[in-house]
Amino acid sequence: MKPIQNISVFGLGKLGACIAATLAARGFDVLGVDIDPEKVRRVNEGLPPVDEPLLADMITAGRARLRATTNHRDAARTDASFFIPPSPSLPDGSFSNEHLLKAMQPIAKAVREADNRGHLFICSSTTTPGAVDGVLIPMLETATGWKAGRDFGMLYNPEFIALGNVIAGLLDPDMVLIGESDKESGDRLEALYQKYNRNQPNLARMSIISAEIAKISLNSYITMKISYTNQLRLIAERFPKANIHDILDAIGSDSRIGRKYLRAGLTYGGPCFPRDNRLLAYTARMLGLEAPLAVAADRVNELAKQKLLENVKALLKPGETAAVLGLSYKPDTYITEESAGLHLAQNLKRAGYRVLVHDYAAKPAVAPALHEFENLDDPAALKTMADVKVAVLCCPWPQYKTVHFHPNTQVVAKWKL
Ligand SMILES: NC(=O)c1ccc[n+]([C@@H]2O[C@H](COP(=O)([O-])OP(=O)(O)OC[C@H]3O[C@@H](n4cnc5c(N)ncnc54)[C@H](O)[C@@H]3O)[C@@H](O)[C@H]2O)c1
Repeated sequence: MKPIQNISVFGLGKLGACIAATLAARGFDVLGVDIDPEKVRRVNEGLPPVDEPLLADMITAGRARLRATTNHRDAARTDASFFIPPSPSLPDGSFSNEHLLKAMQPIAKAVREADNRGHLFICSSTTTPGAVDGVLIPMLETATGWKAGRDFGMLYNPEFIALGNVIAGLLDPDMVLIGESDKESGDRLEALYQKYNRNQPNLARMSIISAEIAKISLNSYITMKISYTNQLRLIAERFPKANIHDILDAIGSDSRIGRKYLRAGLTYGGPCFPRDNRLLAYTARMLGLEAPLAVAADRVNELAKQKLLENVKALLKPGETAAVLGLSYKPDTYITEESAGLHLAQNLKRAGYRVLVHDYAAKPAVAPALHEFENLDDPAALKTMADVKVAVLCCPWPQYKTVHFHPNTQVVAKWKL
Protein backbone atom coordinates (compact mmCIF):
# COMPACT_ATOMS: atom_id res chain seq x y z
CA MET A 1 0.00 0.00 0.00
CA LYS A 2 1.57 3.29 -1.14
CA PRO A 3 1.59 5.79 1.74
CA ILE A 4 0.42 9.35 1.12
CA GLN A 5 3.24 11.86 1.63
CA ASN A 6 2.93 14.47 -1.15
CA ILE A 7 -0.44 16.17 -1.09
CA SER A 8 -2.07 18.93 -3.11
CA VAL A 9 -4.90 20.98 -1.64
CA PHE A 10 -7.19 22.77 -4.13
CA GLY A 11 -8.89 25.81 -2.57
CA LEU A 12 -7.08 27.81 0.11
CA GLY A 13 -10.20 29.38 1.64
CA LYS A 14 -11.59 29.26 5.17
CA LEU A 15 -11.39 25.47 5.32
CA GLY A 16 -8.78 24.57 2.68
CA ALA A 17 -6.08 26.90 4.04
CA CYS A 18 -6.44 25.24 7.45
CA ILE A 19 -6.29 21.74 5.93
CA ALA A 20 -3.17 22.62 3.92
CA ALA A 21 -1.40 24.24 6.89
CA THR A 22 -2.24 21.47 9.38
CA LEU A 23 -1.16 18.73 6.93
CA ALA A 24 2.21 20.49 6.55
CA ALA A 25 2.51 21.03 10.31
CA ARG A 26 1.89 17.30 10.84
CA GLY A 27 4.75 16.30 8.51
CA PHE A 28 3.23 16.00 5.02
CA ASP A 29 4.62 17.78 1.94
CA VAL A 30 1.85 20.09 0.78
CA LEU A 31 1.19 22.06 -2.36
CA GLY A 32 -1.71 24.51 -2.03
CA VAL A 33 -3.45 25.41 -5.29
CA ASP A 34 -5.84 28.34 -5.67
CA ILE A 35 -7.10 30.51 -8.51
CA ASP A 36 -6.65 33.56 -6.25
CA PRO A 37 -3.02 34.79 -6.65
CA GLU A 38 -3.26 36.86 -3.45
CA LYS A 39 -3.94 33.77 -1.30
CA VAL A 40 -1.08 31.95 -3.04
CA ARG A 41 1.28 34.87 -2.41
CA ARG A 42 0.36 35.03 1.26
CA VAL A 43 0.91 31.31 1.82
CA ASN A 44 4.30 31.48 0.09
CA GLU A 45 5.24 34.40 2.35
CA GLY A 46 4.28 32.36 5.42
CA LEU A 47 1.14 34.42 6.07
CA PRO A 48 -2.42 33.14 6.60
CA PRO A 49 -4.61 33.71 3.51
CA VAL A 50 -7.78 33.89 5.65
CA ASP A 51 -8.60 34.96 9.22
CA GLU A 52 -8.72 31.96 11.53
CA PRO A 53 -7.28 31.56 15.05
CA LEU A 54 -4.05 29.45 15.15
CA LEU A 55 -3.77 29.30 11.35
CA ALA A 56 -0.68 31.55 11.38
CA ASP A 57 0.98 29.23 13.96
CA MET A 58 0.25 26.18 11.80
CA ILE A 59 1.70 27.86 8.71
CA THR A 60 4.83 28.71 10.68
CA ALA A 61 5.11 25.15 12.02
CA GLY A 62 4.81 23.64 8.53
CA ARG A 63 6.58 26.36 6.57
CA ALA A 64 9.39 24.10 5.27
CA ARG A 65 6.84 21.67 3.80
CA LEU A 66 4.18 24.10 2.50
CA ARG A 67 4.12 26.01 -0.76
CA ALA A 68 1.36 27.31 -2.98
CA THR A 69 0.74 27.88 -6.68
CA THR A 70 -1.92 28.95 -9.15
CA ASN A 71 -0.72 26.28 -11.59
CA HIS A 72 -2.66 23.04 -11.16
CA ARG A 73 -0.10 21.14 -13.28
CA ASP A 74 2.39 21.30 -10.40
CA ALA A 75 0.07 18.89 -8.56
CA ALA A 76 0.17 16.17 -11.23
CA ARG A 77 2.72 14.01 -9.41
CA THR A 78 1.37 14.30 -5.88
CA ASP A 79 -0.03 11.17 -4.17
CA ALA A 80 -3.40 12.71 -3.34
CA SER A 81 -5.39 15.90 -3.96
CA PHE A 82 -7.90 17.38 -1.55
CA PHE A 83 -10.58 19.53 -3.22
CA ILE A 84 -12.19 22.27 -1.10
CA PRO A 85 -13.53 24.94 -3.46
CA PRO A 86 -16.96 26.47 -2.76
CA SER A 87 -20.08 24.40 -3.52
CA PRO A 88 -22.69 27.18 -3.33
CA SER A 89 -26.38 26.47 -2.76
CA LEU A 90 -28.67 26.78 -5.76
CA PRO A 91 -32.21 28.21 -5.43
CA ASP A 92 -33.75 24.71 -5.20
CA GLY A 93 -31.57 23.82 -2.17
CA SER A 94 -29.09 21.58 -4.04
CA PHE A 95 -25.36 22.40 -4.12
CA SER A 96 -23.51 23.41 -7.28
CA ASN A 97 -20.76 21.09 -8.63
CA GLU A 98 -19.40 23.83 -10.87
CA HIS A 99 -16.29 24.77 -8.85
CA LEU A 100 -15.46 21.16 -8.04
CA LEU A 101 -15.62 20.22 -11.71
CA LYS A 102 -13.51 23.24 -12.69
CA ALA A 103 -10.90 22.37 -10.07
CA MET A 104 -10.82 18.61 -10.75
CA GLN A 105 -10.93 18.37 -14.52
CA PRO A 106 -7.53 19.92 -15.36
CA ILE A 107 -5.69 18.03 -12.62
CA ALA A 108 -7.30 14.77 -13.77
CA LYS A 109 -5.87 15.35 -17.24
CA ALA A 110 -2.47 16.28 -15.79
CA VAL A 111 -2.43 13.15 -13.60
CA ARG A 112 -3.18 11.05 -16.68
CA GLU A 113 -0.38 12.71 -18.68
CA ALA A 114 2.03 12.06 -15.81
CA ASP A 115 0.77 8.42 -15.73
CA ASN A 116 0.28 8.89 -11.99
CA ARG A 117 -1.91 5.82 -11.40
CA GLY A 118 -3.16 5.32 -7.88
CA HIS A 119 -3.71 9.06 -7.38
CA LEU A 120 -6.39 9.77 -4.78
CA PHE A 121 -9.02 12.43 -5.55
CA ILE A 122 -10.44 13.50 -2.20
CA CYS A 123 -13.51 15.72 -2.18
CA SER A 124 -13.92 17.66 1.08
CA SER A 125 -16.46 20.21 -0.19
CA THR A 126 -20.03 19.38 0.73
CA THR A 127 -21.88 17.82 -2.21
CA THR A 128 -25.49 17.02 -3.06
CA PRO A 129 -25.96 13.30 -2.28
CA GLY A 130 -25.31 11.37 -5.48
CA ALA A 131 -23.04 14.06 -7.02
CA VAL A 132 -19.77 12.19 -6.49
CA ASP A 133 -20.91 8.89 -8.03
CA GLY A 134 -23.17 10.54 -10.61
CA VAL A 135 -21.13 13.57 -11.74
CA LEU A 136 -17.57 13.74 -10.37
CA ILE A 137 -16.47 10.12 -10.95
CA PRO A 138 -17.84 10.01 -14.52
CA MET A 139 -15.99 13.26 -15.29
CA LEU A 140 -12.74 11.89 -13.79
CA GLU A 141 -13.08 8.60 -15.71
CA THR A 142 -13.61 10.51 -18.97
CA ALA A 143 -10.73 12.90 -18.32
CA THR A 144 -8.28 10.14 -17.38
CA GLY A 145 -9.58 7.25 -19.46
CA TRP A 146 -9.11 5.22 -16.25
CA LYS A 147 -11.49 3.43 -13.90
CA ALA A 148 -12.29 4.70 -10.40
CA GLY A 149 -11.41 2.17 -7.70
CA ARG A 150 -8.89 0.44 -9.96
CA ASP A 151 -6.63 3.06 -11.60
CA PHE A 152 -7.35 5.95 -9.22
CA GLY A 153 -9.18 6.34 -5.92
CA MET A 154 -12.12 8.62 -5.19
CA LEU A 155 -12.92 9.58 -1.63
CA TYR A 156 -15.57 11.80 -0.10
CA ASN A 157 -14.11 13.19 3.11
CA PRO A 158 -15.95 16.24 4.48
CA GLU A 159 -14.85 17.91 7.70
CA PHE A 160 -17.02 18.86 10.66
CA ILE A 161 -15.49 22.09 11.84
CA ALA A 162 -16.75 25.33 13.33
CA LEU A 163 -15.26 28.58 12.07
CA GLY A 164 -13.14 30.14 14.81
CA ASN A 165 -12.12 26.66 16.00
CA VAL A 166 -11.12 25.04 12.70
CA ILE A 167 -7.61 23.93 13.67
CA ALA A 168 -8.72 21.96 16.73
CA GLY A 169 -11.74 20.68 14.80
CA LEU A 170 -9.43 19.24 12.14
CA LEU A 171 -6.74 17.81 14.39
CA ASP A 172 -8.91 16.52 17.27
CA PRO A 173 -12.25 15.54 15.71
CA ASP A 174 -14.83 13.18 17.23
CA MET A 175 -15.08 11.41 13.91
CA VAL A 176 -13.43 11.25 10.51
CA LEU A 177 -15.93 10.47 7.76
CA ILE A 178 -14.60 8.56 4.74
CA GLY A 179 -16.69 7.56 1.74
CA GLU A 180 -14.54 5.35 -0.52
CA SER A 181 -14.56 4.05 -4.08
CA ASP A 182 -12.54 1.00 -2.97
CA LYS A 183 -11.00 -0.49 0.17
CA GLU A 184 -7.37 0.26 -0.68
CA SER A 185 -8.05 3.97 -1.22
CA GLY A 186 -9.92 4.05 2.11
CA ASP A 187 -7.00 2.25 3.82
CA ARG A 188 -4.56 4.83 2.46
CA LEU A 189 -6.65 7.77 3.67
CA GLU A 190 -7.14 6.09 7.06
CA ALA A 191 -3.34 5.71 7.37
CA LEU A 192 -2.98 9.44 6.60
CA TYR A 193 -5.42 10.32 9.40
CA GLN A 194 -3.59 8.04 11.85
CA LYS A 195 -0.55 10.25 11.38
CA TYR A 196 -2.45 13.53 11.08
CA ASN A 197 -4.92 13.46 14.00
CA ARG A 198 -3.66 14.29 17.50
CA ASN A 199 -6.45 12.22 19.06
CA GLN A 200 -7.93 8.86 18.10
CA PRO A 201 -11.22 9.69 16.40
CA ASN A 202 -13.81 7.21 15.21
CA LEU A 203 -12.89 6.49 11.57
CA ALA A 204 -16.28 6.05 9.95
CA ARG A 205 -15.73 4.32 6.58
CA MET A 206 -18.53 3.62 4.16
CA SER A 207 -19.72 3.98 0.58
CA ILE A 208 -19.51 7.44 -0.97
CA ILE A 209 -23.28 7.95 -1.05
CA SER A 210 -23.54 6.92 2.64
CA ALA A 211 -20.90 9.51 3.53
CA GLU A 212 -22.66 12.22 1.51
CA ILE A 213 -25.90 11.52 3.39
CA ALA A 214 -24.10 11.26 6.75
CA LYS A 215 -22.40 14.66 6.29
CA ILE A 216 -25.59 16.68 5.83
CA SER A 217 -27.59 14.54 8.28
CA LEU A 218 -25.23 15.36 11.11
CA ASN A 219 -25.64 19.10 10.57
CA SER A 220 -29.36 18.72 9.99
CA TYR A 221 -29.70 16.86 13.31
CA ILE A 222 -28.00 19.72 15.14
CA THR A 223 -30.29 22.30 13.51
CA MET A 224 -33.25 20.20 14.65
CA LYS A 225 -31.92 20.27 18.23
CA ILE A 226 -31.40 24.05 18.11
CA SER A 227 -34.87 24.61 16.66
CA TYR A 228 -36.32 22.39 19.39
CA THR A 229 -34.83 24.73 22.02
CA ASN A 230 -36.28 27.73 20.17
CA GLN A 231 -39.71 26.18 19.97
CA LEU A 232 -39.63 25.57 23.74
CA ARG A 233 -38.28 29.06 24.40
CA LEU A 234 -41.09 30.70 22.43
CA ILE A 235 -43.64 28.71 24.46
CA ALA A 236 -41.94 29.34 27.82
CA GLU A 237 -41.70 33.10 27.15
CA ARG A 238 -45.52 33.28 27.33
CA PHE A 239 -45.51 32.08 30.96
CA PRO A 240 -44.12 34.76 33.29
CA LYS A 241 -42.82 32.20 35.77
CA ALA A 242 -41.32 29.78 33.25
CA ASN A 243 -37.52 29.81 32.90
CA ILE A 244 -36.23 28.30 29.66
CA HIS A 245 -32.74 27.77 31.08
CA ASP A 246 -34.11 25.62 33.94
CA ILE A 247 -36.23 23.65 31.49
CA LEU A 248 -33.36 22.93 29.10
CA ASP A 249 -30.91 22.14 31.94
CA ALA A 250 -33.31 19.49 33.18
CA ILE A 251 -33.97 17.97 29.75
CA GLY A 252 -30.27 17.99 28.83
CA SER A 253 -29.27 16.10 31.96
CA ASP A 254 -31.03 13.04 30.57
CA SER A 255 -28.22 11.07 28.91
CA ARG A 256 -30.50 10.09 26.03
CA ILE A 257 -30.65 13.78 25.06
CA GLY A 258 -27.46 15.48 26.32
CA ARG A 259 -26.71 19.14 26.91
CA LYS A 260 -24.83 20.01 23.71
CA TYR A 261 -26.72 22.43 21.48
CA LEU A 262 -29.53 22.36 24.00
CA ARG A 263 -29.26 25.78 25.56
CA ALA A 264 -31.45 28.76 25.04
CA GLY A 265 -30.15 31.23 22.52
CA LEU A 266 -31.15 32.59 19.18
CA THR A 267 -31.20 30.93 15.82
CA TYR A 268 -28.61 28.91 13.90
CA GLY A 269 -26.87 30.56 10.96
CA GLY A 270 -23.56 30.61 9.13
CA PRO A 271 -22.33 28.92 5.97
CA CYS A 272 -23.16 25.28 6.89
CA PHE A 273 -26.12 24.52 9.19
CA PRO A 274 -28.95 26.27 7.30
CA ARG A 275 -27.92 25.12 3.86
CA ASP A 276 -26.95 21.54 4.82
CA ASN A 277 -30.36 21.15 6.46
CA ARG A 278 -32.11 22.48 3.36
CA LEU A 279 -30.02 20.09 1.24
CA LEU A 280 -31.43 17.14 3.18
CA ALA A 281 -34.95 18.39 2.46
CA TYR A 282 -34.01 18.82 -1.22
CA THR A 283 -32.62 15.27 -1.35
CA ALA A 284 -35.87 13.87 0.04
CA ARG A 285 -37.91 15.89 -2.49
CA MET A 286 -35.79 14.59 -5.37
CA LEU A 287 -36.61 11.05 -4.26
CA GLY A 288 -40.33 11.80 -4.14
CA LEU A 289 -40.19 11.77 -0.31
CA GLU A 290 -40.73 14.41 2.34
CA ALA A 291 -38.35 15.46 5.13
CA PRO A 292 -40.77 17.21 7.53
CA LEU A 293 -38.23 17.38 10.38
CA ALA A 294 -35.71 19.28 8.25
CA VAL A 295 -38.41 21.59 6.91
CA ALA A 296 -39.71 22.26 10.43
CA ALA A 297 -36.22 23.05 11.77
CA ASP A 298 -35.87 25.70 9.07
CA ARG A 299 -39.35 27.07 9.76
CA VAL A 300 -38.79 27.37 13.53
CA ASN A 301 -35.47 29.12 12.81
CA GLU A 302 -37.19 31.74 10.65
CA LEU A 303 -40.04 32.06 13.15
CA ALA A 304 -37.58 32.70 15.99
CA LYS A 305 -35.96 35.53 13.98
CA GLN A 306 -39.39 37.00 13.27
CA LYS A 307 -40.47 36.79 16.93
CA LEU A 308 -37.29 38.55 18.05
CA LEU A 309 -37.98 41.36 15.60
CA GLU A 310 -41.57 41.69 16.88
CA ASN A 311 -40.37 41.68 20.54
CA VAL A 312 -37.85 44.44 19.88
CA LYS A 313 -40.25 46.58 17.82
CA ALA A 314 -42.76 46.37 20.67
CA LEU A 315 -40.19 48.08 22.93
CA LEU A 316 -39.55 50.98 20.55
CA LYS A 317 -41.46 54.04 19.39
CA PRO A 318 -41.16 54.95 15.67
CA GLY A 319 -37.69 56.25 14.80
CA GLU A 320 -36.12 55.42 18.16
CA THR A 321 -32.64 53.90 18.48
CA ALA A 322 -31.76 50.24 18.98
CA ALA A 323 -28.30 48.71 19.45
CA VAL A 324 -27.78 45.25 17.98
CA LEU A 325 -24.76 43.56 19.57
CA GLY A 326 -23.22 40.45 18.01
CA LEU A 327 -23.75 40.31 14.26
CA SER A 328 -21.62 37.23 13.59
CA TYR A 329 -23.50 33.93 13.56
CA LYS A 330 -21.36 32.62 16.44
CA PRO A 331 -18.47 33.93 18.57
CA ASP A 332 -14.91 33.86 17.18
CA THR A 333 -15.85 34.47 13.58
CA TYR A 334 -16.63 37.50 11.41
CA ILE A 335 -19.16 35.62 9.25
CA THR A 336 -22.64 37.18 9.38
CA GLU A 337 -24.34 34.89 6.84
CA GLU A 338 -27.92 34.09 7.98
CA SER A 339 -27.19 35.39 11.51
CA ALA A 340 -29.95 36.47 13.87
CA GLY A 341 -28.17 39.80 14.52
CA LEU A 342 -27.94 40.73 10.85
CA HIS A 343 -31.58 39.80 10.28
CA LEU A 344 -32.68 41.96 13.22
CA ALA A 345 -30.51 44.96 12.32
CA GLN A 346 -31.58 44.93 8.65
CA ASN A 347 -35.28 44.65 9.44
CA LEU A 348 -35.23 47.33 12.15
CA LYS A 349 -33.47 49.70 9.79
CA ARG A 350 -35.95 48.94 7.00
CA ALA A 351 -38.79 49.69 9.43
CA GLY A 352 -37.38 53.18 10.04
CA TYR A 353 -35.56 52.77 13.37
CA ARG A 354 -32.05 54.06 13.97
CA VAL A 355 -29.75 51.06 14.35
CA LEU A 356 -26.31 50.96 15.99
CA VAL A 357 -24.36 47.73 15.59
CA HIS A 358 -21.34 46.18 17.26
CA ASP A 359 -19.44 42.91 16.93
CA TYR A 360 -15.98 41.91 18.16
CA ALA A 361 -15.02 40.38 14.78
CA ALA A 362 -17.66 41.28 12.18
CA LYS A 363 -16.65 44.76 10.98
CA PRO A 364 -17.62 46.38 7.67
CA ALA A 365 -14.16 45.71 6.19
CA VAL A 366 -14.65 41.92 6.45
CA ALA A 367 -18.46 41.76 6.59
CA PRO A 368 -19.66 44.20 3.89
CA ALA A 369 -23.34 43.78 4.87
CA LEU A 370 -22.53 45.99 7.90
CA HIS A 371 -21.68 49.08 5.84
CA GLU A 372 -25.28 50.28 5.96
CA PHE A 373 -25.25 50.67 9.78
CA GLU A 374 -23.65 52.99 12.32
CA ASN A 375 -20.91 50.71 13.69
CA LEU A 376 -19.79 51.19 17.30
CA ASP A 377 -16.05 50.71 17.83
CA ASP A 378 -16.44 50.00 21.52
CA PRO A 379 -19.67 48.89 23.23
CA ALA A 380 -18.46 50.65 26.41
CA ALA A 381 -19.84 53.84 24.77
CA LEU A 382 -23.37 52.52 25.42
CA LYS A 383 -23.02 53.39 29.10
CA THR A 384 -23.54 57.06 28.33
CA MET A 385 -25.92 56.80 25.37
CA ALA A 386 -29.30 57.72 26.83
CA ASP A 387 -31.02 57.65 23.42
CA VAL A 388 -30.46 53.91 22.98
CA LYS A 389 -33.82 52.51 24.06
CA VAL A 390 -33.10 48.82 23.46
CA ALA A 391 -29.88 46.79 23.25
CA VAL A 392 -30.19 43.25 21.90
CA LEU A 393 -27.46 40.66 22.49
CA CYS A 394 -27.68 38.48 19.41
CA CYS A 395 -24.42 36.52 19.61
CA PRO A 396 -23.01 35.25 22.93
CA TRP A 397 -19.54 36.78 22.76
CA PRO A 398 -18.48 36.41 26.44
CA GLN A 399 -17.11 40.00 26.43
CA TYR A 400 -20.70 41.32 26.41
CA LYS A 401 -21.02 40.16 30.04
CA THR A 402 -18.96 43.14 31.12
CA VAL A 403 -20.69 45.83 29.03
CA HIS A 404 -22.63 48.45 31.02
CA PHE A 405 -25.67 50.14 29.56
CA HIS A 406 -27.34 53.48 30.24
CA PRO A 407 -30.24 53.19 32.73
CA ASN A 408 -32.64 54.22 29.90
CA THR A 409 -31.65 51.16 27.85
CA GLN A 410 -33.66 47.98 28.05
CA VAL A 411 -31.42 44.95 27.44
CA VAL A 412 -32.78 41.93 25.57
CA ALA A 413 -30.74 38.70 25.91
CA LYS A 414 -32.06 35.27 25.11
CA TRP A 415 -28.73 33.72 26.09
CA LYS A 416 -27.49 32.78 29.53
CA LEU A 417 -24.30 34.82 29.25
N1 LIG B 1 -16.41 27.22 6.07
C1 LIG B 1 -16.97 26.25 6.77
O1 LIG B 1 -17.36 26.42 7.94
C2 LIG B 1 -17.16 24.88 6.16
C3 LIG B 1 -17.42 23.80 7.01
C4 LIG B 1 -17.64 22.54 6.46
C5 LIG B 1 -17.62 22.40 5.08
N2 LIG B 1 -17.37 23.47 4.29
C6 LIG B 1 -17.36 23.26 2.83
O2 LIG B 1 -16.06 23.50 2.32
C7 LIG B 1 -16.15 24.06 1.03
C8 LIG B 1 -15.30 25.32 0.97
O3 LIG B 1 -15.77 26.22 1.95
P1 LIG B 1 -14.91 27.48 2.41
O4 LIG B 1 -15.71 28.14 3.47
O5 LIG B 1 -13.50 27.09 2.70
O6 LIG B 1 -14.95 28.35 1.07
P2 LIG B 1 -14.12 29.68 0.73
O7 LIG B 1 -14.96 30.44 -0.22
O8 LIG B 1 -13.62 30.35 1.97
O9 LIG B 1 -12.82 29.12 -0.05
C9 LIG B 1 -12.87 28.49 -1.30
C10 LIG B 1 -11.52 28.69 -2.00
O10 LIG B 1 -11.51 27.91 -3.19
C11 LIG B 1 -10.84 28.66 -4.20
N3 LIG B 1 -11.20 28.13 -5.51
C12 LIG B 1 -12.35 28.32 -6.21
N4 LIG B 1 -12.28 27.65 -7.39
C13 LIG B 1 -11.08 27.01 -7.42
C14 LIG B 1 -10.43 26.19 -8.36
N5 LIG B 1 -10.99 25.87 -9.52
N6 LIG B 1 -9.19 25.71 -8.07
C15 LIG B 1 -8.59 26.04 -6.91
N7 LIG B 1 -9.17 26.83 -5.97
C16 LIG B 1 -10.39 27.30 -6.22
C17 LIG B 1 -11.30 30.09 -3.94
O11 LIG B 1 -10.44 31.02 -4.56
C18 LIG B 1 -11.23 30.12 -2.41
O12 LIG B 1 -9.95 30.50 -1.95
C19 LIG B 1 -17.65 24.28 0.76
O13 LIG B 1 -18.17 23.18 0.03
C20 LIG B 1 -18.26 24.26 2.12
O14 LIG B 1 -19.58 23.79 2.11
C21 LIG B 1 -17.11 24.70 4.79
